[in-house]
Amino acid sequence: MKELLDMNRIPQHIAIIMDGNGRWAMDRGLDRTFGHKAGLDNLEQVTTVCSNLGVKYLTVYAFSIENFNRPAYEVEALMGLVLSFFKMQLFHNNNVSFHVVGDVERLPQSVQDKLRSMVEETAMYDGMAMTIAMPYSSKQELVNVSKTIARKVQNGEMNIDDITEDTISENLWTNWMPDPDLLIRTGGEVRISNYLLWQCAYSEFYFCDCYWPDFSEEELHKAIISYQNRQRRFGKTEAQIEAEAEEEVNNK
Ligand code: FPP
Repeated sequence: MKELLDMNRIPQHIAIIMDGNGRWAMDRGLDRTFGHKAGLDNLEQVTTVCSNLGVKYLTVYAFSIENFNRPAYEVEALMGLVLSFFKMQLFHNNNVSFHVVGDVERLPQSVQDKLRSMVEETAMYDGMAMTIAMPYSSKQELVNVSKTIARKVQNGEMNIDDITEDTISENLWTNWMPDPDLLIRTGGEVRISNYLLWQCAYSEFYFCDCYWPDFSEEELHKAIISYQNRQRRFGKTEAQIEAEAEEEVNNK
């Protein structure tokens, strides 16, 4: 499978909805929380593979704001994974920096402290940026952006007519990263569950049935090959895109 990858067209930014941990565990007669542990182990594998492929940004949905409504023991298990099971060698060995996006202040203080220390400990790495969205909700992010901009208008810091798409992007939690090129969702559901709604306006989507703990290197290659076989048009026609590509070749 790897030989089919075009190493010159690896997506710069891959976002992933890591779904199916609970079902993976229940299929094995295990509690759902074992699925999350297996999911974290797989996240470490996929981070290494992405970094080796030259992906620049990997942004994964680790916990939605809505996930706080899950049974308390499951929420605690997910928080416990952050506190005890992230292997920092992953970042040190791969020159990967760690980041968090979301309404971090809703997390228990111990989890906030741990995440902050992971961010600080990996800040010097200039390879791939690995970001967990936790606790994240795209609608909440856009509400926050609206309030920030409304306040600026109210205080006379900006005019309503100066609000552009960039104004929104610059105020998102993700304002420092480019929009995802490829959004992958594992676990068989075909929806985006309040994830990066603004940022994925022109992302390519890839859905697969396999549960997140089973999403192997080969599955990732399949997703990237599918992405590479698509033509991204951003609202233009096929003829325009082809003419632009030809012009680029001629200018080289
Ligand atoms: C969705 O599967 C997955 C989650 C809600 C959590 C994802 C977390 C990890 C992969 C582990 C890493 C975790 C942290 C906190 C860093 P699901 O539980 O909805 O599975 P199901 O659809 O089969 O029930």
